[in-house]
Amino acid sequence: MFDRDTEGVRIELRSLTKHYPGQPAPAVDNVTLDIPAGELVVFVGPSGCGKTTTMKMINRLVEPTSGEIRIGGRDVLGLDPDELRRHVGYAIQQVGLFPHQTVAQNIGLVPKLLGWPAAKIAERVEELLALVSLEPSLFRDRYPRQLSGGQQQRVGVARALAADPPVMLMDEPFGATDPITREHLQNEFARLQKQLRKTIIFVTHDFEEAIKLGDRIAILRERSHIAQYDTLRHPRRPRRRLRRELHRPGRHAQAARAAAGGRPAGRLPGARPPAATGGRRRQPPRGAGPHARPRHRPVQLALRRAHLRRPVRGRGFPGRDGERR
Ligand SMILES: Nc1ncnc2c1ncn2[C@@H]1O[C@H](COP(=O)(O)OP(=O)(O)O)[C@@H](O)[C@H]1O
Ligand SMILES: [Mg+2]
Repeated sequence: MFDRDTEGVRIELRSLTKHYPGQPAPAVDNVTLDIPAGELVVFVGPSGCGKTTTMKMINRLVEPTSGEIRIGGRDVLGLDPDELRRHVGYAIQQVGLFPHQTVAQNIGLVPKLLGWPAAKIAERVEELLALVSLEPSLFRDRYPRQLSGGQQQRVGVARALAADPPVMLMDEPFGATDPITREHLQNEFARLQKQLRKTIIFVTHDFEEAIKLGDRIAILRERSHIAQYDTLRHPRRPRRRLRRELHRPGRHAQAARAAAGGRPAGRLPGARPPAATGGRRRQPPRGAGPHARPRHRPVQLALRRAHLRRPVRGRGFPGRDGERR
């Protein structure tokens, strides 16, 4: 479909806009962005800023209101959407496995649609299960309900990779995995990407994940306005900005913390403190006197039961994706 079948191709967004019917303002407003072939671009931005909508326009799960999308020079809006989606891998936090199909059938879905012979599909399924650390003999014949959330998510990533597409859209694909699995998946994925050089858009709230995987970082504001778009190859400045962005107080930081499973935004347990990752501190040490404490010392928090208040209906604690439930 594209000029290269498995290696990345350039993605161009031109004045891309989505105005959902009945909404007062567009969800994505006039976004123009170039993603070079073979690069992984991380999207960072507050919950509701239009990251998912932007991605879904690229594989046409959402039809744009106006604007243009080109992949490998081809006008995406002129392609058959089903055919397009067979060449664009898509992995999402909610996974979306088919419940009545086994793990092997879920992973082999797109290869089957593309007419691969059964033996080749079976071989690919084994390879991908091993890649995401699920023992093929144990997992291939299970149904999604027989897997943990993290295992389902790994199957979701395997499925997105199955037909070796040149373009991948990954919407918090490792968000529901535990920290150890996540780190393993990130490492495997980073290794794979180095080799395969696909063009990837990757949404995350996790600073370490963004640094580890990204070639570039796009910081999005409301309606997907692009506040910054930097390469991470010359890392100093963008890393500092990104860290500041992910540690910004208020809603965004809360969402990031929630997405990181309650950990301080963007820091895996045992991860190096910011000062050790190349950043320079700007602010003077906070406070002095009897309550002063050195930076980066672990802080222990204690919570009394009596201090807990029940969330008001509809305004509950933020969930994993930062949405209030
Ligand atoms: N199908 C839809 N209909 C109407 N509004 C939607 C729909 N999907 C998303 N939105 C709205 O569009 C905005 C962007 O949503 P989304 O793209 O999911 O943001 P993000 O992925 O950055 O959290 C939000 O205000 C959301 O409520
Ligand atoms: Mg989203």
